[in-house]
Amino acid sequence: MTDGRRRAREETGVIRQNGAVDATPAAGKPLFLLAVMSSEPACQAVHEAAATLDGVRCEAWVGAPSPAFTDAPPPEVDAVLLDLDPDDVGAMTVVQRLRAGPLAAVPVIVAAPATTCAATMRRLFHLGMVDVVLHPLRASDLHGALVRARAAGTGMAGAQERRGRVVAFLKAGGGAGATTLAVQAGCLLAAGDAGTAGEARGVCLLDFDVQAGTAALFLDLDDRVGLADLLDAADRLDGELLRSVMTRHDSGLHVLAAPREVLPLDVVAPEVVDDCLALARCAYDTVLIDLPGAWTAWSHRIVQNADLVVLVMQMGVDGVRRARRHIETMRRHGLDGVALCLVLNRHRRHWGHRAEVREVERALGRPFDCIVPSDFALVREAIDRGVPLHAVRRRSKVESGLRRLLAMIAGAGGMPPHGSVVLQRGGNGLRAINSKAAGQGGDEEWKSRPTRRPYAATPGR
Ligand SMILES: Nc1ncnc2c1ncn2[C@@H]1O[C@H](COP(=O)(O)OP(=O)(O)OP(=O)(O)O)[C@@H](O)[C@H]1O
Ligand SMILES: [Mg+2]
Repeated sequence: MTDGRRRAREETGVIRQNGAVDATPAAGKPLFLLAVMSSEPACQAVHEAAATLDGVRCEAWVGAPSPAFTDAPPPEVDAVLLDLDPDDVGAMTVVQRLRAGPLAAVPVIVAAPATTCAATMRRLFHLGMVDVVLHPLRASDLHGALVRARAAGTGMAGAQERRGRVVAFLKAGGGAGATTLAVQAGCLLAAGDAGTAGEARGVCLLDFDVQAGTAALFLDLDDRVGLADLLDAADRLDGELLRSVMTRHDSGLHVLAAPREVLPLDVVAPEVVDDCLALARCAYDTVLIDLPGAWTAWSHRIVQNADLVVLVMQMGVDGVRRARRHIETMRRHGLDGVALCLVLNRHRRHWGHRAEVREVERALGRPFDCIVPSDFALVREAIDRGVPLHAVRRRSKVESGLRRLLAMIAGAGGMPPHGSVVLQRGGNGLRAINSKAAGQGGDEEWKSRPTRRPYAATPGR
């Protein structure tokens, strides 16, 4: 065992390693299968199955995969076999992290309890598992799963490249412009007008604002089919069904319309969100999602799985307060590793506006990534006609403001968390505020400056 692998094993919390069986063929690189099993007999069964295959090198550990395992797996792994109960929320979180982390391109087999139902099995496949074997483990099933994993291994790197990016739009208060920006960004991306090459599989916008969604309305699209139909048919959700409930806009953007009626927020099950995202990632290059203003278990799940979260706010004390709340909520719920694009929308230039922007940035503890100017007449006309902005006026300032957002969307998936960018700036108040997030004290530095600060953080709010 290499040092790296030994260190990784120690860090994962896996309690003990079983003896490794090496079925390495005389020539060629063997497939390295890492199995994390719940019991010693299960490890033994895996070794026996692996020994029946040429070119498979197997290591089986007894334990449960921890977040450390999914975030920093041992190097050189070609396939993973996980022994878990898919009805256990924690176990499924591990699978999701695995799909989003460094092992995203590695085939994963799940060993599940015999009682696992068909719907759960489908979910596992939607999440990208190459096979599911049931307990008690049979050599023939494991053999078949390993053959599939080996075959998939060669194609998985390409599949990973084809995995679409998910971009979630959050609004810091009603009317901030999240839907407007999601719709307009979607139209530009779909029309290939955003300098993003290779959007061959297209762009979709999923309106998950179940109580107040207006994406279809903003594009003048028929909203008779949409999210409500998807939720009704959640137990037979597949790629075909997903496409069938979308409506295509002339720009090429596919839209999943929000329900016509106001539905309770808990009408969406987190598992349906998982399936929907997994399918949408397969079917589209870019998946934009308009979220409700309220946090729910399923919106948390969307943010957790997003490659980029776009937080849209307007200038004003209330906008700043709401944006802070979202940023703080993300931090408190362990979502601060998710890349965040902070957008100031409807920005009006006036005397001293730059200083005001800086003031807000200090209050938020990070700079804006994108500032979109206000042009109510233009945006209103685009919405009323259901067209992209450039159909109303070419080269508008609002569209130029959107370019930075489009660039961030195009780069989403491989970006470092934005927090590191903020820290690198250093030498000003931003650094101090970020240190506070790390538990080192805080934003006192800029609060003590004797200038007018309407957006200053107020303790306890
Ligand atoms: N850059 C902009 N300049 C001028 N007006 C804008 C701009 N962006 C959005 N608007 C206007 O703001 C209004 C609210 O926008 P939108 O519906 O997108 O907000 P939201 O964040 O989705 O909030 P909600 O979902 O609560 O309606 C719209 O009527 C739109 O015309
Ligand atoms: Mg909206």
